[in-house]
Parts: sequence; structure tokens; C-alpha cells
Amino acid sequence: MDLTQEVLVLRDVLIPGGRVCDITLSGGRVSHLGASGKADTIYRCHDTIVVPAGIDMHVHMRDGVQAQKEDWESGTKSALAGGVTVVVDQPNTIPPVTTGKILQDRAHLAQEQAYCNFAINAGVTVDADLEGMARAGAMAFGETFAGPSSYGEALSRDDLKSAIYSIRNLDGLVTLHAEIVHEGQDNTLAAHDILRSTAGERQAVQMIQEIATPGSRIHFCHISSAETITTIKSKETGTIEVTPHHLFLSHDSCTPDDTHAKVNPPLRKECERKRLWECWSKIDVIASDHAPHTLKEKSVPFSDAPSGIPGVETMIPLLMAEVHHGRISLTDVIEKTSTNPARILGIEPAGYQPGMRADFALYPKTSSTIQVENLFSKAGWTPYEEMEGVFPEMVIMSGQVAYDQGACIKTNPTWIKGRGYIPEK
Ligand code: DOR
Repeated sequence: MDLTQEVLVLRDVLIPGGRVCDITLSGGRVSHLGASGKADTIYRCHDTIVVPAGIDMHVHMRDGVQAQKEDWESGTKSALAGGVTVVVDQPNTIPPVTTGKILQDRAHLAQEQAYCNFAINAGVTVDADLEGMARAGAMAFGETFAGPSSYGEALSRDDLKSAIYSIRNLDGLVTLHAEIVHEGQDNTLAAHDILRSTAGERQAVQMIQEIATPGSRIHFCHISSAETITTIKSKETGTIEVTPHHLFLSHDSCTPDDTHAKVNPPLRKECERKRLWECWSKIDVIASDHAPHTLKEKSVPFSDAPSGIPGVETMIPLLMAEVHHGRISLTDVIEKTSTNPARILGIEPAGYQPGMRADFALYPKTSSTIQVENLFSKAGWTPYEEMEGVFPEMVIMSGQVAYDQGACIKTNPTWIKGRGYIPEK
């Protein structure tokens, strides 16, 4: 049977708001909400929480010469196992994505290996062919480095200004890595926090707001402090993304020179982490900044270690554990991991209503603990070991089962292109 034509029913789903009904999926969409008719397969959901699957709009899938860290197969299996069916790949690859040809090559590599849907962002460097990448199908532009990071060189203020202007004229979304880096000895997590301070993050955001062409669509990546969030929201000039590592980890709870917790922007103090949670309602998007580096690469002196934490597989499970304890609502998790990223990027949203993209993750009503041996990422480590998570039992993508009880199933993932895409003749 052609599985794309299969009619699948999720029976007795509790929709947020209280209604219990069946969801019929066919042709990649929700075809009916309410009592179901004929179906090829029925999944009984009275014991599960059925959630529109996530879009992780900030992942580094690596591959190519960095395939030892991650490749499209391991990275997208990791995404599926964490309830994510769309990943948006960042362009600071080797080589960086700076032309339409490189972007298309990257998409073709992904198309061969990926287990979930994917989009590719365009790199923003001084000599990047922004228009060529928009036409080739770039989803968004960036992360654009206003401060340097692993595999990313910072643009000067003038170059940033002109890139934002050009991207505005292409009607593109600019995603920004906002940091200021001070000189000094970078030998502990606390020092890393000071050298890439929250004040520097806020100043970088303010600088971007000053230079941005009016009407630009701006998205601030991985914001790590409450003061920066307040700055952005009071001016209403950009959407706000926060990572799970800034919400769930602080450097106070790590060994002082633990390279695994080295990330840009840095983990902050515990009091800062708590203040970030107080801004929960102002956060538009939770994205993982999945930045896998191997154990070997992290096993070097602190100042030499690459920055980055893997997290695409644990992001929604960590949030679902918070839902489980009643600390946040399921509706908020759906909004910040699925609906809002879809709206900001212009991707069709997944959801319960007829016509919507039929991507769902089915979660148990009990939590478990995060264990590295259960994770698919090639990184081979997680900073969340032994923390509580609620992992999906099953994930459905375009109306087909793509993950079932620990096994990823190869379906036919889609390359989701940006709005500037022009098909080649
Ligand atoms: O810690 C980070 N690692 N921050 C970034 O912005 C880039 C990332 C990477 O690519 O490893």
C-alpha cells in the first residue's frame, strides 16, 4: 500500500480546552476532527497526550567534513525522537552556506539522509550571495553573527546594517546572534559568562535595533537574560528565541571548568536562570541551538574547547516534564515550539484542525529520566543526564508514522523552502 494514501485515525484525543475526539489524517493533513469513519490504522490515544509536533528553528546538523559531530541521519533521528518534525539548519557549516549552489548542495545531501522535514538558512557574510540563496530556497538569513562564535565570524556594524537592508529588500527574515565579546582569560564557565556578559547581549540587541532598516523582520536567537528580553519587547522590534540550556542549566551547578557546558551565549548564574523563567510569557520561541561537538573535542583545556550543547532531542521532553508538574501549560509549549516558529518562518502550522499539517507527537502521561544511551545524536553526551523528561512514544509526520517506540522509520521528508524560492527551469 502507498503509505502516503493511508487513512490513519488518532482515537479519543484530548484537545487542549477539554474536547475529546478522533482526528483523521490522510494525504499528509488532518482531514476530519470528530467521530471517525473508515480507517486503515487506528491508534487509541486516551492514555497519551497528542501534541502538534515541533519545529526546531535553530539546529546545527553539521555533516560533511564535520560528520564526526553529527550528520543528517543522526541529527534528524534525534529530532524525531524528541517530538520535532521540522529542523531549520544553520549555515555556519564547513564550507559556510554563502551561495545558492552551496545551499542547494546542502539541501540535496539532507534530502538523501534526513528522517524529518528540514529547511536550510542562508549564511550572512560580507561576500554572501543573499539574493542567490533566497532564490535557491533559503528559509531565513542567519544566524547572523553580531558577535563571534564557534564557526561564525562577527560582521562589523556597517556590514550588518547593509546586510539587514538587503535582506529587508528580499522580504527575508534575519536571525541574529547578538553578543559583545570582551578580551580576557576564558578559562572557566564563570569567566566565559563575564566575557560574554548579559549587558553585552543587551547592547548588541540595542545596536541591531538602531541600525535595522524600518520594516525589517528580525528574530533574536538564543536570548539568555531577562534584561535583554525586556529591551526587545519594550521596543516591539523582533521575536525572541530562548534555548532549553538557558532555561534548565546554570553554571553554578556545573564544575567550574566543565567544557561540556561551554556555549555561546554562556550559561548564566542560577539567579539569572530563574529570572529568565519569569519572562516565560514574553518568549516567542523555544529552539535548541543543537550544537553537537564530540566528547573528544570537548576534552581539551577550557579556552580551546568549542562552544555548543546538543539539545534537539531533549528540548520538548524537558518542557513536557514541566507540563507534567503543572509548572507551564501545554498550550504554551505548543505555541513556543510549533505554532510560533511556523508563523515566524512562514511554514504551514501543524495542528488539530482540518486542513492542518498532520504532524503529531504522542507523549505518555508519565515522565522518565534522560539517559545518553537512549539518544540518537552522534555527540554521545548530554548535559541533562538523569534530569526528568517526557519523551514521545510515537511521532507522526505528514500523516505517517515516522518514529515508534525508539525506532525511526524512513518516510519521505520534505525540504521546506523559503518564500523567495524560484524553481529552476
Ligand atoms: O555555542 C554555540 N555553538 N553558539 C553558536 O552560536 C554556534 C554554535 C556552534 O555552531 O557550535
